[in-house]
Amino acid sequence: MSDLNNLETQLLNDITAASDEAALESLRVGALGKKGSVSELLKTLGKMSPDERKEQGPLINGLRDKIASAIATRKAELDSAALDARLSAERVDISLPPPHHPRGSIHPVSQVQAEITAILGALGFAVADGPDVESDDYNFNRLNIPPEHPARQMHDTFYMKPQDDGSRPLLRTHTSPVQVRTMLKQKPPIRIIAPGRAYRCDSDATHTPMFHQVEGLVIDTETHLGHLKWTLEELCRTFFEVPKVAMRLRPSYFPFTEPSVEVDIQCDRSGGKICFGEGNDWMEIAGAGMVHPRVLEMCEIDPQAYQGYAFGMGLDRLAMLKYGIPDLRPFFDSDLRWLKHYGFAALDIPSQEGGLSR
Ligand code: DAH
Repeated sequence: MSDLNNLETQLLNDITAASDEAALESLRVGALGKKGSVSELLKTLGKMSPDERKEQGPLINGLRDKIASAIATRKAELDSAALDARLSAERVDISLPPPHHPRGSIHPVSQVQAEITAILGALGFAVADGPDVESDDYNFNRLNIPPEHPARQMHDTFYMKPQDDGSRPLLRTHTSPVQVRTMLKQKPPIRIIAPGRAYRCDSDATHTPMFHQVEGLVIDTETHLGHLKWTLEELCRTFFEVPKVAMRLRPSYFPFTEPSVEVDIQCDRSGGKICFGEGNDWMEIAGAGMVHPRVLEMCEIDPQAYQGYAFGMGLDRLAMLKYGIPDLRPFFDSDLRWLKHYGFAALDIPSQEGGLSR
């Protein structure tokens, strides 16, 4: 009897003194495990006489229950002490900068748009904007493309349902209607660019039904083609990050400019890839010209007093050329692997001082 008491006192003291979970676990095995001290006592019950068992049974079983509950209590204490210790030792420093593995990335077209805006912004161009859904009047008529003009056929226009007044809105086929919008609401001097989406019903390896352009427009009293050429040279040199780039203007035709030119820059295609700022080849990068006097008139600007130039460039192709992206179609597939490969860090904003495309 006193043996039982001694064992109980001893075990309870040890349990209270157990300083960690490992010590407590070894006490549990030593008492309640298969060969544990209490388990051994329980086994003796089988060999006892019924009377003895009647007396010893409750005592030994009671001991087992006490020990088991003392162990559970001590375990809860140790767990809560361990949690307190972790909580007071571990700290999150919320003043630290965000971790260096941002998940989103900037699409190459957005990157190129930001780069061009940074370059021309530094030259004093403001950014103008217009809606994707345009009127026939702004997309065509006031750009000197009246109904039945053959240039309309080249534009593969997406038309919307006719309105009650008979007009038919359309998805703008170029960013040029922003020229019209700007001239109608702003008097010269005007110096704007308008980057944005354009749409044509055309889809193959080099055309997508939605694509991106940047429009440029400068109107003043003496603005001429020399200004256009210098501005585009400066733009290309800075954009392709080369010391200088030769440029040539080829005669061309657009209804909204007179004279009209196509702008080529010098390049080298000999090494299997294309390099700018060197070589004997030419690559077309823009359409441009002097704004047609009729366009000025239709946009309520006096062609006797003012003149200026305009240009339009495809942003998607500029992104392919600058970043060596061979295929246009994945631009609009939203494939995360492609975006991860060709995308740009979300917080690197292009600027001429900070670097355009590091
Ligand atoms: N709007 C023309 C196109 O989409 C591009 C263009 C050519 C824009 C000449 C201009 C320009 O401003 O002067 O094909």
